[in-house]
Amino acid sequence: EGEVFKYYADGEWKTSSSGKSVPIINPTTRKTQYRVQACTQEEVNKVMELAKVAQKSWAKTPLWKRAELLHKAAAILKEHKHPIAECLVKEIAKPAKDAVSEVVRSGDLVSYCAEEGVRILGEGKFLVSDSFPGNERTKYCLTSKIVPKFREANIQRTFAAWFLKIPLGLVLAIPPFNYPVNLAVSKIAPALIAGNSLVLKPPTQGAVAALHMVYCFHLAGFPKGLISCVTGKGSEIGDFLTMHPGVNCISFTGGDTGIAISKKAGMIPLQMELGGKDACIVLEDADVDLAAANIVKGGFSYRQIFCPCFTFFLHLVNNLGNLPHNGQRCTAVKVVLVMESVADTLVEKVNAKVAKLTVGPPEDDCDITPVVTESSANFIEGLVKDAKEKGATFCQEYRREGNLIWPLLLDHVRPDMRIAWEEPFGPVLPVIRINSVEEGIHHCNASNFGLQGCVFTKDINKAILISDAMETGTVQINSAPARGPDHFPFQGIKDSGIGSQGITNSINMMTKMKSTVINLP
Ligand code: G3H
Repeated sequence: EGEVFKYYADGEWKTSSSGKSVPIINPTTRKTQYRVQACTQEEVNKVMELAKVAQKSWAKTPLWKRAELLHKAAAILKEHKHPIAECLVKEIAKPAKDAVSEVVRSGDLVSYCAEEGVRILGEGKFLVSDSFPGNERTKYCLTSKIVPKFREANIQRTFAAWFLKIPLGLVLAIPPFNYPVNLAVSKIAPALIAGNSLVLKPPTQGAVAALHMVYCFHLAGFPKGLISCVTGKGSEIGDFLTMHPGVNCISFTGGDTGIAISKKAGMIPLQMELGGKDACIVLEDADVDLAAANIVKGGFSYRQIFCPCFTFFLHLVNNLGNLPHNGQRCTAVKVVLVMESVADTLVEKVNAKVAKLTVGPPEDDCDITPVVTESSANFIEGLVKDAKEKGATFCQEYRREGNLIWPLLLDHVRPDMRIAWEEPFGPVLPVIRINSVEEGIHHCNASNFGLQGCVFTKDINKAILISDAMETGTVQINSAPARGPDHFPFQGIKDSGIGSQGITNSINMMTKMKSTVINLP
């Protein structure tokens, strides 16, 4: 049952020698939709070997040529948006329109990355020794990168020997199920523009969409072996990949597995985006309508919530990357901390918007679609039951059919409830009523996560003070948390991650410094 897809190595599509495949269960039908190859450790060794060889000549390929290939891949990716989106709908139940947006956003990300790579890898610096105390002018340090003006000459010249930033080597990219295409290209494109080779291990749910995305890179004509995509069981190739001596950098987005990877990986740069418990602090002077709209957008979905005159604005926001997905985003609003004096009004407004959310299959483009797996749905249900037993107020009736969970706002949540701290990754949102700003900040900072947070107030001075006090990678003032636009820095602290993403940061992170000094006689 389910069409079987091949993995990608050495510029070809291959069947694993294991003779085994891994099923991908459609979250809506709960039946096997597709199958992918269960690659072996020997096959992983082979792709690593090929990637090592391909990287050597790729690093010498002129920057403008690397950029040109990325632009080509981006265009092909956009041309393939519908078939890729169809996979996203079937594999992760992403609403149809959002699935298309994910692919378009990915194409834009790849193009921007190509442009940014030319900019930041193409500049140079010339240092002289006597600008530092105690030195004569006897040393010149040329820290130049590939100079784009030599494009016509078709070769790297002049300062090509003095790279400021050289590639790390082989980058291992492990994206999550909720953005198997976008969070794959956010790793692939910076790695490639910087002159690295790339091995991709997609999530099982989303693997076929990722393979199709890799097909677009294949069509663009990247050299054989430079990009590979291995699929399979984490238990067979997970640790093997992340602990592989050939890997020079790991870029991972996902859950707790990232913490385990960071403990096992060698002395290599790690870029990790893990979970979040993004808090939304609502003060007494907040624009409560704005806060309610963002809580629904950030926690569940936002379509059909605003008046029609906002449609164009929403289209822009959508393309800026704030895609709703049942709360299945690391940047979703995951706890509302509202001042008691405005809590009733806020809860009422949020409830009115929740009532308008459509619930159903992703093919119908519903706001709320099934969560990714039955075990996710069971986990969410466990949090809901715990909150019920401990006295939370259910603003809607709890309803579940298979993996489909209706949106639920839980009011009067207290810190002794699991949902106050744990990340449901689903359409259930706790509200904790607070009596002081300090109480809200304290709750936010007591979390083991520190990805993003947001604060709603009309007092910008207060907002900045609160932002400074919140221990998170980013604080959004008067808007829901979001990763995008994709060139913005994006980082988590504590259990939410290591390093910073965003196009520029990723390119820099996937390179290392190298200087050459000319010594005068
Ligand atoms: O789920 C994790 C993503 O990085 C969130 O991205 O804010 O664009 O939805 P997003």
